[in-house]
Amino acid sequence: MTDSATTDTVGVFPLLYVKLRPMSSRISIPQPETTDPPPVPLNLERIVRTHGPGLLQTGRSIVLVGLMGAGKTTIGRMLATRLGLPFVDADTEIERAAGCSIADVFRLYGEAAFRDGERRVIRRLLEGPPMVLATGGGAFMAADTRALVREHAISVWLRCPLPVLLRRVAGRTHRPLLNAASPRDVLEKLIAIRHPVYAEADVTVDCGDNNVEHTTTRVMEALALSRRPLRLPVVLEKSCYDVVIGADLISRAGALLAPLLPRRSVIVITDETVRPLYLSKLLASFEETGIEARSITVAPGEQTKCWATYENVVDTILEGGVERRTAIIALGGGVVGDLAGFVAATTLRGLPFVQIPTTLLSQVDSSVGGKTGINSRWGKNLIGAFHQPLCVLADVSSLTTLPRRELVAGYAEIVKAGLIGQESLFAWCEKHGAAVLSRDPEALAEAVRQACAFKAGVVAADEREEQKTDGRALLNLGHTFGHALEAELGYDGRLLHGEAVSIGLTLAFSLSVKLGLCPQEDLIRVTRHLESLKMPAHVSDLPYRFRIADLMAHMQRDKKMQDGKLSFVLAHGIGKAFTTRDVPEQAVREVLLADGVTS
Ligand SMILES: NC(=O)c1ccc[n+]([C@@H]2O[C@H](COP(=O)([O-])OP(=O)(O)OC[C@H]3O[C@@H](n4cnc5c(N)ncnc54)[C@H](O)[C@@H]3O)[C@@H](O)[C@H]2O)c1
Repeated sequence: MTDSATTDTVGVFPLLYVKLRPMSSRISIPQPETTDPPPVPLNLERIVRTHGPGLLQTGRSIVLVGLMGAGKTTIGRMLATRLGLPFVDADTEIERAAGCSIADVFRLYGEAAFRDGERRVIRRLLEGPPMVLATGGGAFMAADTRALVREHAISVWLRCPLPVLLRRVAGRTHRPLLNAASPRDVLEKLIAIRHPVYAEADVTVDCGDNNVEHTTTRVMEALALSRRPLRLPVVLEKSCYDVVIGADLISRAGALLAPLLPRRSVIVITDETVRPLYLSKLLASFEETGIEARSITVAPGEQTKCWATYENVVDTILEGGVERRTAIIALGGGVVGDLAGFVAATTLRGLPFVQIPTTLLSQVDSSVGGKTGINSRWGKNLIGAFHQPLCVLADVSSLTTLPRRELVAGYAEIVKAGLIGQESLFAWCEKHGAAVLSRDPEALAEAVRQACAFKAGVVAADEREEQKTDGRALLNLGHTFGHALEAELGYDGRLLHGEAVSIGLTLAFSLSVKLGLCPQEDLIRVTRHLESLKMPAHVSDLPYRFRIADLMAHMQRDKKMQDGKLSFVLAHGIGKAFTTRDVPEQAVREVLLADGVTS
């Protein structure tokens, strides 16, 4: 970038230090003393051959951000040449537009006017054809400019260690900033203030003393290796949020969440299994982006969704001090998500909430839609609240550590979505189910996207499950049967929720066939698919015995019972589910008995 021009706003406006100093004292940014990152072999061709061009070819502009001395102009020029794109220096454009130097704009009109002009110039540039754009060190500090860059371009942070920056800016006496104080002091302060914000860039490249060509190739490699996560909007009457789906999102969570958090302060709730796997990665990403974080760990498993744990968590939060804009982050499966969401919904009458689901079930189902809650001795999920998250980060890389049984249980919810209302999703499952269960990242991301899109549509139409028929209640396909099986085993982990749903799906289709509502072939297709993936499809697949009277009693108690009648979701065929309360008890008994339940 224009290190030769007097563009760095802190230089022109030393007052900015004063305003931002409190924040800088809160953030501990390690000060790298090494002059050069470890040498990395350059292998751009191989990366592109193996992974495709990634963000190298998106048709978007590439915006370089970083401190003075990071090499935005020199690297930007070479990058543009190698990508066959024009190179533009934002500061030069601003000077051209203003008809005077940036120092003069500051002096004559003040910083606000400069920022306004800068934003307008950057918008004009980014709305045009793709280019490589080098920005002034302060441009990315403005939230609206960052939003603009996010919307139109790919941002690359050239992160440079202090000693290298110091060497590069040495002797640049034309920068008033550097003349005003010792360059080390100035740069240290800038690093503390700006690095947490630069960390919001899409791609970070560590630059050292390597030559321009080497660093440019590193930038291209990083772009080729990076993927923009899929974003699925959930549009509700009073709120709107994104489900962000992709690989390695936990290590980028700080950058992805910083623009959304009301305050850079969060409390992470996780469980003992997930904690050692992902918490440190998450906290590191928060530290990098200047987000203060503390964490609370609960025991894993369904028993955690209880009054006692809820009370402990809320007490811990209140004891540690919390203010209304501090966000609660759920890092874990559906148990953590439901508990943390309920804590967020109720503490101080509602704290902002973010879901980072780490099981397939929670990524495709429980994290979307805003249902939160805990269990009571009278049944599951009987105490709760609707509380929509600010965002859901579904990191499919976290599924690599998930036990296969949990993966299969989550997959049942994807099949369920297809069976309820999207025949094409079920057909996709028939084709790609095996790839999903072998954890193919592309197949996982696509499955999560399709299932979330389906759920988002259902939730948008009936956010609080108020519709008398169909609506959100359709998501209970297979649940009346499934809950009865789970309840009979005391929710003790012998039967996972998704496994119960898997069996419940075949039972719901069997009942539909028995009542003459659904073609037999559709039941055969459902059963064949589940069996082909070795998923539980029948009560007789389980190593436990169930008695008809016990299961019927659980169904009567289920909260889906209304006006004394059993409520079911049945289907006219694959993708054609509907709700009904007009189900003869005898037919339910017969279906259960035929599936392996004893009399
Ligand atoms: N709110 C809703 O709309 C909704 C919808 C469906 C289900 N649910 C609820 O979701 C819960 C079930 O969720 P679940 O199936 O995710 O169970 P879970 O949260 O108990 O997770 C299953 C197990 O996997 C472990 N785990 C989580 N992520 C892991 C990872 N990446 N690697 C290794 N282990 C990991 C957990 O510690 C736990 O032991 C139930 O309580 C159910 O009621 C809620």
